[in-house]
Amino acid sequence: MGSLKNEKEMEETVEESKEAILYVNGVRKVLPDGLAHLTLLEYLRGVGLTGTKLGCGEGGCGACTVMISHYDRKLRKCVHYAVNACLAPLYSVEGMHVITVEGVGNHKRGLHPIQESLARSHGSQCGFCTPGFIMSLYALLRSSQTPPTEEQIEESLAGNLCRCTGYRPIVDAFRVFAKTSDVLYADISSLSLQEDEFVCPSTGKPCSCGSKTVNDIDTNGQIICSASYKPISYSEIDGSTYTDKELIFPPELLLRKLTPLNLSGLGGLKWHRPLTVKHVLELKEKYPNAKLLIGNTEVGIEMRLKKMQYKVLISVSHVPELNMLNVKEDGIEIGAAVRLTELLNLFREVVTQRPAHETSACKAFIEQLKWFAGTQIKNVASVGGNVCTASPISDLNPLWMAARAKFQIINFSGNIRTTLAENFFLDYRKVDLVADEILLSIFLPWTRPFEYVKEFKQAHRRDDDIAIVNAGMRVCLEEIGEEWVVSDASVAYGGVAPRSLGAIKTKEFLIGKKWNQHVLQGALNVLRADIELKEDAPGGMVEFRKSLTLSFFFKFFLWVSHQIEGKKSIKESLSSSHLSAIKSFHRPPLVASQDYDIKKHGTSVGLPEVHLSSKLQVTGEAEYTDDTAMPPNGLHAALVLSKKPHARILSIDDSGAKSSPGFAGSFFAKDVPGSNKIGPVVLDEELFASEFVTCVGQVIGVVVADTHENAKLGAAKVHVEYEELPAILSIEDAVSAKSFHPNSQKILRKGDVELCFQSDQCDMIIEGKVQVGGQEHFYLEPQSSLVWTMDGGNEVHMISSTQAPQKHQKYVSCVLGLPMSKVVCKTKRIGGGFGGKETRSAFLAAAAAVASYLMNRPVKLTLDRDIDMMTTGQRHSFLGKYKVGFTDEGKVLALDLQIYNNGGNSLDLSLAVVERAMFHSDNVYEIPHVRIFGSVCFTNFPSNTAFRGFGGPQGMLIAENWIQRIALELKKSPEEIREINFQGEGSILHYGQRLEYCTLAQMWNELKSACDFLKVREEVNEFNLHNQWKKRGVAMIPTKFGISFTTKFMNQAGALVNVYTDGTVLVTHGGVEMGQGLHTKVAQVAASAFNISLSSVFISETSTDKVPNASPTAASASSDMYAAAVLDACKQIKARMEPIASQRNFSSFAEVEGAFIQGLGWVALEELKWGDAAHKWIRPGCLYTCGPGSYKIPSLNDIPFKFSVSLLKGHPNVKAIHSSKAVGEPPFFLASAVLFAIKDAIIAARAETGHTEWFPLDNPATPERIRMACLDEFTAPFISSDFHPKLSV
Ligand SMILES: Cc1cc2nc3c(=O)[nH]c(=O)nc-3n(C[C@H](O)[C@H](O)[C@H](O)COP(=O)(O)OP(=O)(O)OC[C@H]3O[C@@H](n4cnc5c(N)ncnc54)[C@H](O)[C@@H]3O)c2cc1C
Ligand code: FES
Ligand code: FES
Repeated sequence: MGSLKNEKEMEETVEESKEAILYVNGVRKVLPDGLAHLTLLEYLRGVGLTGTKLGCGEGGCGACTVMISHYDRKLRKCVHYAVNACLAPLYSVEGMHVITVEGVGNHKRGLHPIQESLARSHGSQCGFCTPGFIMSLYALLRSSQTPPTEEQIEESLAGNLCRCTGYRPIVDAFRVFAKTSDVLYADISSLSLQEDEFVCPSTGKPCSCGSKTVNDIDTNGQIICSASYKPISYSEIDGSTYTDKELIFPPELLLRKLTPLNLSGLGGLKWHRPLTVKHVLELKEKYPNAKLLIGNTEVGIEMRLKKMQYKVLISVSHVPELNMLNVKEDGIEIGAAVRLTELLNLFREVVTQRPAHETSACKAFIEQLKWFAGTQIKNVASVGGNVCTASPISDLNPLWMAARAKFQIINFSGNIRTTLAENFFLDYRKVDLVADEILLSIFLPWTRPFEYVKEFKQAHRRDDDIAIVNAGMRVCLEEIGEEWVVSDASVAYGGVAPRSLGAIKTKEFLIGKKWNQHVLQGALNVLRADIELKEDAPGGMVEFRKSLTLSFFFKFFLWVSHQIEGKKSIKESLSSSHLSAIKSFHRPPLVASQDYDIKKHGTSVGLPEVHLSSKLQVTGEAEYTDDTAMPPNGLHAALVLSKKPHARILSIDDSGAKSSPGFAGSFFAKDVPGSNKIGPVVLDEELFASEFVTCVGQVIGVVVADTHENAKLGAAKVHVEYEELPAILSIEDAVSAKSFHPNSQKILRKGDVELCFQSDQCDMIIEGKVQVGGQEHFYLEPQSSLVWTMDGGNEVHMISSTQAPQKHQKYVSCVLGLPMSKVVCKTKRIGGGFGGKETRSAFLAAAAAVASYLMNRPVKLTLDRDIDMMTTGQRHSFLGKYKVGFTDEGKVLALDLQIYNNGGNSLDLSLAVVERAMFHSDNVYEIPHVRIFGSVCFTNFPSNTAFRGFGGPQGMLIAENWIQRIALELKKSPEEIREINFQGEGSILHYGQRLEYCTLAQMWNELKSACDFLKVREEVNEFNLHNQWKKRGVAMIPTKFGISFTTKFMNQAGALVNVYTDGTVLVTHGGVEMGQGLHTKVAQVAASAFNISLSSVFISETSTDKVPNASPTAASASSDMYAAAVLDACKQIKARMEPIASQRNFSSFAEVEGAFIQGLGWVALEELKWGDAAHKWIRPGCLYTCGPGSYKIPSLNDIPFKFSVSLLKGHPNVKAIHSSKAVGEPPFFLASAVLFAIKDAIIAARAETGHTEWFPLDNPATPERIRMACLDEFTAPFISSDFHPKLSV
């Protein structure tokens, strides 16, 4: 036991200051006392810097990324790094320089090359994620002395999510900043480029005009370039080149001396910033319950999402003793406040400097940190924060345990004690620290010769995801005689117990044993008993987690054996087919191409114009609903939500809310001035539940207060008493209880299914069940509405984030009892919708409107991410039961299908969704006899709703399941079965439509030869033959998609075209811009119609008082409908002015990749987990996956290595304007090829253990489903062969 300070020193008291300053985009700000409760994001948005967005508030999406610069006194230089402003406490950046997207460039002053490149490469669609991407790359470039590598660029973007683009255009836009861009892509030195050439972002080829991947061909067949697409010099982008534009580090901050701070915040919150460990200990003595803060990535989540209340926060980021990093003779000493990025950098440095055998543990940490959170989190999160939080799924703690790390602990008196990491973690979030102690540092010893440390982690998503199970393992081998014997070992797991857990019996078993196959089998046996997981363990996936504990150890055994292979005394060598189990993952640079013909006509149609808002989006100037400045006297609203899936409301007590800070009003069913009955098709919902609640998250009332936080506080204090009633929490439950929405059972028939089954035409008849999970929209911009009254409530106006302003107008007029003519809804743009803002946004506007109307004050309601996910519905989960008859050749003769969707607690659009699923149940296959029953199940979940594809993908996925099964039964390839069943020209579909202009066979054959499918199939087979533990699969899936609304009258549109005397044109139409480029396409049509430049046409917003009664922007039909309406209006005006010009061709393409990646998420990643019979560890009816921490959408790392997209050439769409092709919804289903390729790989894996029979694979094919379907020695001990991982449907 040592002592850091003597007692005399400890007694001295420290002067604390209240002076806090900050620079934001070069401007000095004095931070008053009293703001300790604010995050940096709240502060920035509060002072009008709304370019930085709030996407999730939990560090999971990157929309709030800003760059922090501060002067590092230890390094004597300025350091720049990206952080999540949503988690950074405001005072944590005191004395620093914050640069937001507004400080990088703007459309008046000029764009920064990063902004320019992203805008030009079509890298922004809805634009909500865009500022975050800009800032992540900006911080990387500012912090790099030399241009970064492509890998570093991709790594820097791991914490940024985009739901629209599919990432490819973003990668393309940013890869030009990489060091190797020219050499890598063009095989040509940048020196040999001509003066005005640069390396094309997409192709990597030298180019003087911009991307040539698009074959821009004008009417004369000439290749043309967009005049606005100018080259950018990317030669030196480490910051120095742009000093004229770049904000410099404020000189005041270089000279300023840091002072200890003592500040406060709302609710009596105290904030201290000590600068010595002695001061930290004094404060800790004074406030034993105080929380130490470094990155706030844990405490921030606890306080904001888990509602834990801490009164005293001690920010220890600037304490030198806690920031030490000492490389010593026997190992490394790491201060508890050292950030993970710093740690990673140090490890990377030491592995190049120290003998290889010493750094085995360092290498394991490097690998583990690679998959640990996003860069923004790693830049602020500390080692000590991770250790002391003691999360059972901490990625680092099992490694500290395995690597023999020692923790140094200091107490109030300055006494230091040391404990082994192995003994530090006591129970759930409980560690070996008493109230008067803090963690001072960690000592990591070098590894010894023949000592090996390895990390393991299995998560849902590779990048930025918490572990399902992780582990750290170590063995030290000693050569005794002819054998290698284990002299020491350690095996520790995360994710299998309430704490990081050492496998003690396994360790004891290993020590003294010879390192060979026997020890492997023995250790696996001991491990099975050593790691116990109860059936109902929180987190679920018990069988998968158990199997992971074994397979990690198996991998470890292989890896160590591989390390010592070739060393003397090693006789056994690894079979090469085992090596695939231990190869670490490396992502090659993305190879992408887009191939399509465009005929350029007129001034604008046919040009690959950048999105009209793109310049505003990349600079953060584009405004979204929540960015609208709050009018004076404005209030914030929060919803009072049901906590029960089904209950009678006994009483509502809002007295707690009334005494809560900033309270202004609370409103319930009895207060609604008009009708409380709402609904988009049938009025089967209540705005505020009056007597019964039928799902968790149903709205019971609304509370308004002076701030967003106070409104939430007030709403949480409304006490509702319930009498619980039985709840229906799955489709199966609903079917057995015959719980269907009224009039929602439909049937479609063609031929005679029964007769066909009874005849001897079918050689085989199969029956089966397909479960398809739901999907969250995860638009980056949460739902938001701002409502205000005029003339004392005679008129009501609102700005809403919606795809259907007309629905908001209608709902509000209905609940207020006002005529629609007195209610106006405007939408400028939305940050993604995908169907989720079509109907399930209107009730939010209506709730805010009731409060606004009754108080005559503006009211804003913006949902937090978790509330948004819990209350606004998702893509429907489906259950399909099929019976299919077919011939020995594989020709399908009859399909008898029952499909059910999970409608939730109101009908919403669920009937149209199930109908569309029924229409698409044949996918592209000719089936003589068809019978399809469709039903919408009533369940006690929030109402499910429209989502890209609108039921079509679910119907087609069920079809592809039975197609694939037929192939397996007949031992043929699924592609062969598909081909012989293709529909063709003139086919009559089961709903009576005749197929015309059918391009299916041509497209299929072109694609098959373009990708050399048969060769790929051979290569896959070859690979699988030689690799036992890694399998590949391949699949090719066709699709057909019905464009337009199935409710026919909705296929109409309106537009208002104003021509001004200066020759410019203002267009307003009924469609909403949500990133699909609708306004751009429509403006192109207007520009070409008038033969004027695109810049002369402007579309400001969508507004119900300009274009009334518009259909929602949905169904892949909006471009066709609104462009046609605008063209019609333009023609009418031109008829009055001059003769009409001919129509032009144009096509849009940008959404294809985005839709595919969203589909990829649906089939392979995104899983909604609800409190139901399958998930007893979640409260009944509650959504567990309600934020980016637990619900994973694809990240940049998930996109295909090679991504080629081509549109069929030479087939004008005669039915649509300018030959337009619908690209919003159809490509979504193409991603099911990923699911069937995964299944193909599983088939190969199962064949290794003799399982060749058909098996079901539910959607999504998550790691759990994939692994448990591969029956082998690591899964079989825990499951029966018909095991089915649980899925909420
Ligand atoms: C988006 C996101 C992704 C994440 N991904 C991962 C991941 O992949 N793997 C993983 O393991 N974790 C992950 N985490 C968890 C988190 O990053 C880590 O726990 C982080 O290291 C915490 O560090 P911090 O400095 O932010 O802690 P803070 O929130 O500042 O503090 C955390 C706790 O540690 C205590 N503490 C801190 N220092 C000391 C000390 N010296 N002595 C005593 N107590 C102390 C504090 O009192 C507090 O209770 C993630 C978190 C987020 C928000
Ligand atoms: S808003 Fe900060 S990471 Fe999502
Ligand atoms: S453009 Fe990225 S989320 Fe919309």
